[in-house]
Amino acid sequence: MDKILVHGGHKLSGNVRISGSKNSALPILAATLLTKEPCVISNVPDLSDIHFMLQILSHLGASVERASGTVRVEAVKIKSEAPYDIVRKMRASVCVLGPLLGRKKKAIVSLPGGCVIGDRPIDLHIRGFEALGATSVIEHGNVKLSARTLRGSEMNLRGKNGPTVLGTDNVMMAATLAKGVTVIEGAAAEPEVVDLANFLNKMGAKIEGAGTRRITIEGVKELHGAEHSVIPDRIEAGTYLVAGAMMGTEVKLQRVKPEHLASVITHVRESGYEVETAASSVTVRGNGNPKPLRLTTEPYPGFPTDMQAQMCALLCRTIGISVISETIFPQRYMHVSELKRMGADISLDGHTAIIKGVKKLSGAPVMASDLRASAALVLAGLQADGVTEVNRVYHIDRGYESIDEKLNALGARIERVKV
Ligand code: EPZ
Repeated sequence: MDKILVHGGHKLSGNVRISGSKNSALPILAATLLTKEPCVISNVPDLSDIHFMLQILSHLGASVERASGTVRVEAVKIKSEAPYDIVRKMRASVCVLGPLLGRKKKAIVSLPGGCVIGDRPIDLHIRGFEALGATSVIEHGNVKLSARTLRGSEMNLRGKNGPTVLGTDNVMMAATLAKGVTVIEGAAAEPEVVDLANFLNKMGAKIEGAGTRRITIEGVKELHGAEHSVIPDRIEAGTYLVAGAMMGTEVKLQRVKPEHLASVITHVRESGYEVETAASSVTVRGNGNPKPLRLTTEPYPGFPTDMQAQMCALLCRTIGISVISETIFPQRYMHVSELKRMGADISLDGHTAIIKGVKKLSGAPVMASDLRASAALVLAGLQADGVTEVNRVYHIDRGYESIDEKLNALGARIERVKV
């Protein structure tokens, strides 16, 4: 198991190229199961979560070829049961449910267990599948879905914490091959949902309204092969934006869609940093006198929960009192106790974190617990005195392509150590 040593205090400057979006690539790769014809997906990031998804596709019977950032999948004949051993490693495996149900009218996938960021139910996915006419049972730890025919229908997929991203993806994928028209109200509007809908439409689906709260899908008989390039990863970009704000003289993010980062940029600007946007880049400049913030995580286009931990790391050293409210995953504060070990002054009150900015953080051995919490610890290490040892680095490798190399190219001093 690797660990990362962050030597704090080094200024960052220069350009960083943002990779393809993990959370777009995962459902898009799953969607290739909807056709017998080959699909070619480019700008796929090299991450362990992507490797798990490719293993699942192979196990299901698809032929998978990967050359650098391009993946070719041909799913001529597929099985409808995904293996527990791989599925259990990644919650996003549930996004093969929709394509399997759509194509095979049957799907058996391990039920995802708990997760450190909180309860991760799939009741809304099931609600959507049942509205399409599927029956579902939970047996021996698996979700089993089956349907004689899938029929389009109207449904609302909004849950108590808002819309569901993978739930919207899953139902949208299954509905492409249903008879008739499906209307999803309360749909997630994240850019990753739009990217998936664009890919499905290239495959011959008839989807309208992706990116709004109402998506309409007119079922078609079959889908065909297509080529698609995955959108840039707005969360990876946001993470480097925060790194640049913290430690940057000037850091430019390249190959991004600034419009996908609007809410993050607004908050970083509100904190006093200078952020400049161009067609496909964002430049951030450090500021010696940042201001504290109040922010609430919300569904897109609001501030993303996937950027909450990184913002927390930034605000730890912003003099004054900042308040963060986490409304999507109310318990997603695993980074807080580790940041406190580095000297941060944070108290939690339910789903709210109250951060009193401190003058300095000091490096310490810390434990990564989930992907974004780990990124926050690396960010905290950049601005801490001495060395921060981030253990369980596999969490970071799930979602950040070569984070050590990218930060080092900007001037950081990070070592990856094999343990
Ligand atoms: C996606 O997870 C992302 N994962 C997450 O990214 C992200 O944090 C999350 O959306 C929210 O933006 C991928 O895209 C692979 P949800 P997803 O269903 O779709 C509740 C990262 O760090 N809910 O939109 O699984 C749920 O508990 C991660 O890259 C139900 O109640 O999240 C939460 O409160 C981790 N019932 C809210 O909805 C359901 O059936 C939103 O979750 C499903 C969800």
